[in-house]
Order: sequence, then C-alpha cells, then structure tokens
Amino acid sequence: MLGRRKFLHNSLLGSVSALATNHEWQTGESVVGKPIVISTWNEGKPANAVAWQILQKGGRALDAVEAGVMIIEDSQNCCVGLGANPDRDGIVTLDACIMDEHFNCGAVAFLERIKHPISVARRVMEKTPHVFLVGAGAQQFAIAEGFPLEEQKLSTNAKEAYENWLKKSEYKPAVNIENRQHGPYAPLQFENGDWNHDTIGMVALDTNGNLSGSCTTSGMGFKMRGRVGDSPIIGAGLYVDNEVGAVAATGQGEDVIRICGSHTVVEFMRQGLSPEQACKKTVERIFKIKGAKAKDIQVGFIAVNKKGQVGAFALQKGFTYAVKSKDAEYLKDAKFLI
Ligand code: GLY
Repeated sequence: MLGRRKFLHNSLLGSVSALATNHEWQTGESVVGKPIVISTWNEGKPANAVAWQILQKGGRALDAVEAGVMIIEDSQNCCVGLGANPDRDGIVTLDACIMDEHFNCGAVAFLERIKHPISVARRVMEKTPHVFLVGAGAQQFAIAEGFPLEEQKLSTNAKEAYENWLKKSEYKPAVNIENRQHGPYAPLQFENGDWNHDTIGMVALDTNGNLSGSCTTSGMGFKMRGRVGDSPIIGAGLYVDNEVGAVAATGQGEDVIRICGSHTVVEFMRQGLSPEQACKKTVERIFKIKGAKAKDIQVGFIAVNKKGQVGAFALQKGFTYAVKSKDAEYLKDAKFLI
C-alpha cells in the first residue's frame, strides 16, 4: 500500500505529466507543449495562423511550415516574395529552404519569376537526389514541376524604393533594415503592424512530436547581383534536428553564414540550453567576431526544442517574433544583446 506522502508525490507527478502531454503551460521563460509554431518578425503572426490550421488538426509540421510562409510569399508590394525589393540591377531574386524531421532538406537560391520558392525547395527535397538548386537551373526545375513563370515586373512599392536607391546607389547594411528597407512610402499595414521585411523563418513542432522548418527571402534589398544570404543555406538560415530542436535565422546573412548560425543554436540546445539561452549564446558568438562593427548589423534567431519550449534572441533591439499554440498567441520583442 502506498504511504500518504508517496501517494501525494505520485498524484502530483501524474497531474504535471497530464499537463505536459495535453497542452502547453507557461514556464518562467516560455510556452511549452505541442503543437506549437514560432516565426520571425511581425509577418510571423499571419503566417502562424495559416500553419496553425494544419497543426491543430494533427497535421505534419512540414506541411505547416510550408503553407505558413507561402502566404507571406504571396504578399504584393512589400515583404518576402516577388513584390519585394530587387537587387541592384532591378531584378527580384528569391532564396528559400525547408527541412523535415528526417534530415531531408531542399533549397533554392537566385531564383527569378517564381512566386513560391519555398514550394520549389520542397520539390527539390522530395523529387531530386539533390539539396540545392540555383539560378536558371532552379527556375528550369520549377517550370518543369508546373510552377508558373511570373511576369518580370517590380511591385509599385519596390519600384519606388529602387528608384530612390538608384539616386545614390549605395549598398551598406543597416540595423533592422528588414523593417525599413522599403523606403519612404507608408508601409502596408497587416493587422496592428507593418510587415515590411525581407525574410520569414518558421519552425514548428507537431502533435506527433516531429519538428520541421522553413525560411524564405528576397535577400537584402539592392544586393549585388548573384548575392545569396543565409536563408537558403541549411545550417545557416535554418536547421532541424528532430532529436533536439529547430531553428531559423534572420538579419545580416553574411554574419549568420560565417558561424553556421542555426546549426550552432541547435548544438547549444543539444548541450542542454533552453531555446532562448541557445539563441543568446549564438548571438554572443557573432558579437565577439564583429566587435565594434556589431552595432552596424542585426541578427536574430528563433528556436523550438523537442519539448515544445520556444525562444528567440537578437543582436539589437527591434526584432519581433510570433508564437502560436493552443493556449498562447503572441507577437513579442525579442531580448537583445546590445
Ligand atoms: N537573412 C537574409 C539575407 O541575408 O539574405
């Protein structure tokens, strides 16, 4: 027979584990549970809403992270996708990657005139023996897969921003340029905030406990022709290890690439750090490398671990991220280092 103390102890453990298996609850640091989705920037909120439709029905995280970012790729006149700012030759080029719970991954870069690079990345993953297709080859593959070739044309806002940029033709990275790079026009409003941004990263944990992630971008506005940032690079812009966690990056791609940013965050989680602590430690590594120049750039990470804890951290103020689970839905300013 169980003693009273042991009975109470077991009951308590039982109720905690019921909470843990059914839903998420608030810890001091973050929401915990499954399913759950976390995305970068303000546009993460509408993207999460789409992903949630899949997750809440017990759908696969991979399907959720593809569908979620697709609505942002669809946006016109701003943001990610064909409506975004062009390179310095006036042409919009898109990069994206996707990764599932089995280390399957696919990516495209320097892709022109295709509306949904994230879906092309998924086809690369599922239908080719390769991981990464770029430029004309990526476009050729997309067309062969039935993706329509869109008109080569700048959106109204991108055209205006490009014409302004041409006056000085200067390319220099700026902090949180992702939230301002569309120039002096009034940003399009989406719910309570503007969603002027060039990248969306999304990571999710589904009901079955599987992780996946996606990342899609038009890259830095007015970049050199042919420039590719971190977003389509597995390990830099995105990484998923189904035993540990999933991570996506945003901000100055060059500085994320040089430390394999998303992979680094996953490795810190593997060592036992929480998602937020792991993101912070990775940001600190960038800070150490950049020294005084760190103030000229922004980098941010979002992460979810296998338990469904989420977290984020940025180099500087101004990075927002969005979370959606059964009991929680919020858009938050990430903590930052400098
Ligand atoms: N993080 C987006 C880019 O650097 O292209």
